[in-house]
Amino acid sequence: MSCQWSVIRATRMRPSVSCVAAMASSLAVCRLHMRGRGSLVKCLRRVDTFLHRHTGSNAVAAPGETLRKDESGITCIKKCIHSIVEYFLLAVEKDRRKSLYAVQTERQEQARRSVLISCPARTNEKKFLKYLSRHGDIKNYFFYESYGVYAVVEFANQESVASLLEGTDVPSISHESMVPFKSRLLSLKNLGSVDSPKQQLGKQCQSQTTPPINELIQRLSKEESIDQQVTSLTEAYQLTEENSRLRFLVCSLLSDIAAAYFPESIIKPFGSSVNGFGKLGCDLDMFLDLDGITGKRANMPQSDLSLEYQMKRANSERAVTQSILSVIGECVDQFGPGCVGVQKILNARCPLVRFAHQPSGFQCDLTANNRVAMKSTELLYLYGELDPRVRCLVFTVRCWARAHGITSSIPGAWITNFSLTIMVLFFLQKRSPPIIPTLNHLRDLAGPADQSVIEGNDCTFVSDFSKIQLQNNTETLEQLLREFFDFYATFAFSKMSINIRKGKEQNKPEVAMLHIQNPFETSLNVSKNVNASQLERFVALCQESSWLFQQSETNTPRGGKGGNTSTPWGLAAILLPSQVSGVKSRKRRKREPASERIKSLLESLKSNSQQKQKKT
Ligand code: GTP
Ligand code: MG
Repeated sequence: MSCQWSVIRATRMRPSVSCVAAMASSLAVCRLHMRGRGSLVKCLRRVDTFLHRHTGSNAVAAPGETLRKDESGITCIKKCIHSIVEYFLLAVEKDRRKSLYAVQTERQEQARRSVLISCPARTNEKKFLKYLSRHGDIKNYFFYESYGVYAVVEFANQESVASLLEGTDVPSISHESMVPFKSRLLSLKNLGSVDSPKQQLGKQCQSQTTPPINELIQRLSKEESIDQQVTSLTEAYQLTEENSRLRFLVCSLLSDIAAAYFPESIIKPFGSSVNGFGKLGCDLDMFLDLDGITGKRANMPQSDLSLEYQMKRANSERAVTQSILSVIGECVDQFGPGCVGVQKILNARCPLVRFAHQPSGFQCDLTANNRVAMKSTELLYLYGELDPRVRCLVFTVRCWARAHGITSSIPGAWITNFSLTIMVLFFLQKRSPPIIPTLNHLRDLAGPADQSVIEGNDCTFVSDFSKIQLQNNTETLEQLLREFFDFYATFAFSKMSINIRKGKEQNKPEVAMLHIQNPFETSLNVSKNVNASQLERFVALCQESSWLFQQSETNTPRGGKGGNTSTPWGLAAILLPSQVSGVKSRKRRKREPASERIKSLLESLKSNSQQKQKKT
């Protein structure tokens, strides 16, 4: 049978974090911002090809793969050289890092060529793709589950989407009770025969959530080092290629609604969906960008006359934002397929419309006129791209904080993920030598195109990665994690403010419990909501984790082939429920050996896993 469609099956395309992070630790991220990089790459590739030819590709270990004992010395050496070459090549690849702007442009374009289809689970994948490919080549597709099975299908050309929509039926039942708004969210109707279970969808579905904490703890316990645990956690938590595509597609679907009033507008994701620190299941922060509307008119022959639009005036920019969000929010509520639970929170400092997008399972926050937040997103993305240890550490600290209830998805007096991320960045700036530069340094490196002042705030920083020279810090993830807890266990929160602009603590300008200077709106404190008990819990947990890391039983790797794989150790042990439930228990904790609590928790985990094994 000849299939007209060409399909590239979506696979997990993220580079292995373990490989990248191991490279960072051992080779100090190979400072390859040097001249003659092209010839170095050629040379490395030649060495790599030579090794492949002379050892055979099967004999060559992938980076991170352990060597077998019975291998000859020469093969081992070849493998090591190969791994080093691979690491260097990866480091060189890093220099081709894309700016967030480039990533977003590419993703937005992909999203415009994509449709979201709810499919009956008994759908035959081949038949489905063949049916869709009547409208043109399919470039990419994947299935996922969220209240049923859905397919994201990306066509090679946008005309195919138009053709597909033209050939799509309006539901045949009770027309009058349906809002006749057509979008790229579709439903597949299967009128044919039922396919055999083997051919049906469901098994290929990509997971869009993180593993439960107990599962994660078990997974980490099997690793052989704390560094591996940190990278494994990052791999389990970070957004996948598919999840990232889905986020842009949801923005694109909502852009179609906003376009009814503002055809030049675009809805873009910001925050953790795109800054590199997003965890599967994180909310989708969106920004209605109306800047396209204020752009210059097309070049016309010179004349004394010109025309301008008559536009309604409002009292303030905030009032304009509120009215736009109010109307778009209403449209989302009344007409948006799959959008439920719409709340207009227009009197907040940053007005927003909150809703759930059921087909994707995303909790969405739509804002407008929020350009400073876009800049913070860009800055966090840049820091995350500079050194792989940044992301690993942020993921680990965020996961640790969530496991101990320091952060929460409910607004309150908690420390937010954004604040925590800034705390990690500050800590990395304070290393000796620093792992990442200060924001002031990034501002000094900025070129003319990087200049940005938003509402009187200087948001300028360099966007060209190659201008940023990093220092040679070789600390491992394990060292950094321990030091992070030590650092904040003893930080002078009562007097000092955290400041990533300067990379140095500053005297606190106000009485807030926790003062973290907003990187761009420098007179603001991003953590002003945090109360005394939340800060004390954070400090107490840092002390506890720091203490736990000093205990030999926490530190002894239990993973690996011969180890007792169900016993949490290292990072897994510090994710276990803590005794620090309130501030009072902090004093008690000091006298109580954590080993007792670990032992009992480990016992319960062990017995759980033994019971599971018996069942299977
Ligand atoms: P999670 O949603 O918790 O995964 O992280 P997030 O980084 O997306 O945080 P959140 O959804 O709370 O906020 C979205 C973005 O808004 C952040 O990434 C920041 O860019 C920005 N933001 C959040 N809180 C603040 C704040 O207090 N001050 C400023 N200036 N920006 C903030
Ligand atoms: Mg968010």
